[in-house]
Amino acid sequence: MNETMLSGILDAMEDGVAVFDLEGTALFCNAAACALLHVAQGEFRCLRDMPDEVRAFFGGVRSGSSETIELYGQAVRLHYQDLRENGMRTGAVLILTDLGQQQRADRIRHEFTANVSHELKTPLTSISGYAEMIENGMAKDADIRTFAERIRRESNRMLLLVSDIITLSELDERALEEQAETVDLFVIAEKTVETLKSAAMVRGVTVQLFGGQVMVHGIPVLLSELVYNLLDNAIRYNRDNGTVSVRVADQTLTVRDTGIGIPKHHQNRIFERFYRVDKSRSKATGGTGLGLAIVKHICEQHHALLTLKSAEGIGTEITVRFPADHA
Ligand SMILES: Nc1ncnc2c1ncn2[C@@H]1O[C@H](COP(=O)(O)OP(=O)(O)OP(=O)(O)O)[C@@H](O)[C@H]1O
Ligand SMILES: [Mg+2]
Repeated sequence: MNETMLSGILDAMEDGVAVFDLEGTALFCNAAACALLHVAQGEFRCLRDMPDEVRAFFGGVRSGSSETIELYGQAVRLHYQDLRENGMRTGAVLILTDLGQQQRADRIRHEFTANVSHELKTPLTSISGYAEMIENGMAKDADIRTFAERIRRESNRMLLLVSDIITLSELDERALEEQAETVDLFVIAEKTVETLKSAAMVRGVTVQLFGGQVMVHGIPVLLSELVYNLLDNAIRYNRDNGTVSVRVADQTLTVRDTGIGIPKHHQNRIFERFYRVDKSRSKATGGTGLGLAIVKHICEQHHALLTLKSAEGIGTEITVRFPADHA
């Protein structure tokens, strides 16, 4: 491995790495370290150029010690390690970890868990309520059927939610990457249109498929999931007698509908987990707000570019552009 490769690898790291010789002259500083220290790469030449908080940490620390400091308003963990060659101390390595990023990730995870618990608790409460009324004999014979229907509906909502959560957690595991192959996106779109045909018919929505073969490198189940979620939304948030067009051409999938559209100020939030523009409407149709979060995640995994155009009362167009397939 040559020096360019090595510095390329170090620059790709999330942690900051800075290396000094015994005089305190900087030998190397990767991109993340420069960003955390607020210096341009190649700009700082020695320890003296470091912020006071970092210099204070260096004064008299032993190899292997760590400390958390605040650097330009961010929580940063510093870790110091001796650099040794043939047992001789030749310099020092400083590792900087941005704890802010970790805290943000923790917060998102926490919010997600809270949302999941809430979304599961609501249907469970009503299921248990209806069951209890039947059990206590409080439900009249005529009600029992209605209650059973509500129990089934709420259970179905929970099943959908649970399967969405499973998909999301599988996506996080990345293990699926091994299943990537070259697939025809058009064939996937065709199958998905077929699957959702009856749902569209029930809503009086016409679905049209255009285009032709587009080969992409990807994971078939996830690509199906992606098309399914976009098409499902285009049908669900459509108007009566509306249309949906699905186009597969030029490495791109486009799903366009003539539906209710998405107000401007919601547009950059709908890809967040559990985000719904109109909670009551999407709840009535069984939505949990995970569909587009899954779509976004799948796009990222496939290095595909996701764009949204929407106008309230006119319709929505979502495009997913895949990188050219080199397989
Ligand atoms: N094609 C569309 N037209 C209008 N609004 C849309 C469209 N697609 C999504 N939305 C809005 O974005 C929100 C988030 O969509 P998303 O698919 O993530 O969740 P959902 O459809 O509510 O539930 P599900 O998890 O079942 O997909 C929806 O609740 C809806 O308000
Ligand atoms: Mg959806």
